[in-house]
Amino acid sequence: MSASDLHLWHPFTQERVDPPPLSVRRANGVFIETQDGRQILDAISSWWVNLHGHSHPAIAEAVAKQAANLEHVLFAGFSHEPAEELAARLGKVVPPPLRHVFFSDDGSTAVEVALKLALQYWSNSGRPEKRRIVALENAYHGDTVGAMSVSDDSPFTAAFDSLRIPVLRTHSAYCAHCPVGLTRATCKIECLNKLEQLLIEKGNEIAVVIVEPLLQGAGGMIVHPEEFLSGVRRLTAAHDVLLIADEVLTGFGRTGRMFACERAGVVPDLMCVAKGLTGGFLPLAATFATDRIHEAFTGCERTRAFFHGHSYTANPIACAAANASLQIFDSEPVFERISAIEKVHAARLPAFAQHAAVADVRHIGTVAAIELKVPDAGYLSSLRPRLYQFFLNRGVLLRPLGNVVYILPPYVMTTDQVNFVYDVIQDSLSLA
Ligand SMILES: Cc1ncc(COP(=O)(O)O)c(C=O)c1O
Repeated sequence: MSASDLHLWHPFTQERVDPPPLSVRRANGVFIETQDGRQILDAISSWWVNLHGHSHPAIAEAVAKQAANLEHVLFAGFSHEPAEELAARLGKVVPPPLRHVFFSDDGSTAVEVALKLALQYWSNSGRPEKRRIVALENAYHGDTVGAMSVSDDSPFTAAFDSLRIPVLRTHSAYCAHCPVGLTRATCKIECLNKLEQLLIEKGNEIAVVIVEPLLQGAGGMIVHPEEFLSGVRRLTAAHDVLLIADEVLTGFGRTGRMFACERAGVVPDLMCVAKGLTGGFLPLAATFATDRIHEAFTGCERTRAFFHGHSYTANPIACAAANASLQIFDSEPVFERISAIEKVHAARLPAFAQHAAVADVRHIGTVAAIELKVPDAGYLSSLRPRLYQFFLNRGVLLRPLGNVVYILPPYVMTTDQVNFVYDVIQDSLSLA
């Protein structure tokens, strides 16, 4: 590095105490190869984005082909084939009646779009008093200001409280630490009562409820009962409040179905996807809306339009990557791979649940979490950096969320490799 080179400022990194970033020269399948020749097994899909393995040749080829033909064009007043093809492909997998798609760049912007659509929907519909937003405890929806507002308080948000818009907070179904002191075996999802009360008292002012369906990711890989999600849908519909499903993490097969909402038989009014949309190649996100929402934005008055967009909205190269990734769902046994991973989770987790250092285990689809007992639970748990380094030393990329170790592999990870990850986690328990 020469004196004139800029210093690289990495996200979520305290450079005085964290190990220096590993320089990567290539990645293939489930392995990341560092400049010094180490092969690291990517057990978290590079922040939950990778589906079919790194550098999948079909996606790489689609990206190269598209880049040589049309790299980008603005999306206001123009359209293009990759976006049109993507809308058609998504139309086959996104639950009806979500018939409208608005593209943006990443999970946070997809959430911003959904929140803004929800608020403008009510003001365009002559109900401007419906402006309040309800979000869940333990939620994480991204790092931009709106997304950070609906995310729960955490070390990520602490410095920005003055920026965050106030939201109404309701319980999440965190069964291992039930917010209403019950146990799942006998409860009737009483954690929903708080939401019901809010809707009864303030429904006239509430525009929207936002949830991560069935799986709260960064909050600790918290798996909700399906009845919780269907209950949220029932209550929001009964009180004429919109529902946003943030499927940024859960979309594209993560929970064993194309979208988590399907597992609970729920159709939201707005749905956000990002991360896996391009198979982990390029940033691209989408927010889906129903006819009812879209119609409120149409008419002769220009002021009813949605005044939101990004320079790279619907970038053709990213759309081509997404098309190729969705094509792989047809050409390769993706859901068989997903269920093979799910079976390893189901087979391995019970033994962890018996371990003295383990507070809880949970899994859904390809995602499994082991919550460890520590005196300083939470994202900044002192155990976390030690675990991270331990895993890397054993050649596995796992980034525990504080005292929660989770596995979220690319779908092409073999059952032997997933079992190996479990063996390494097993060995790490002596640190806890
Ligand atoms: C559920 C959920 N929503 C939104 C986001 C934000 O996505 P991005 O990091 O792409 O902005 C994340 C990121 O982890 C997420 O898990």
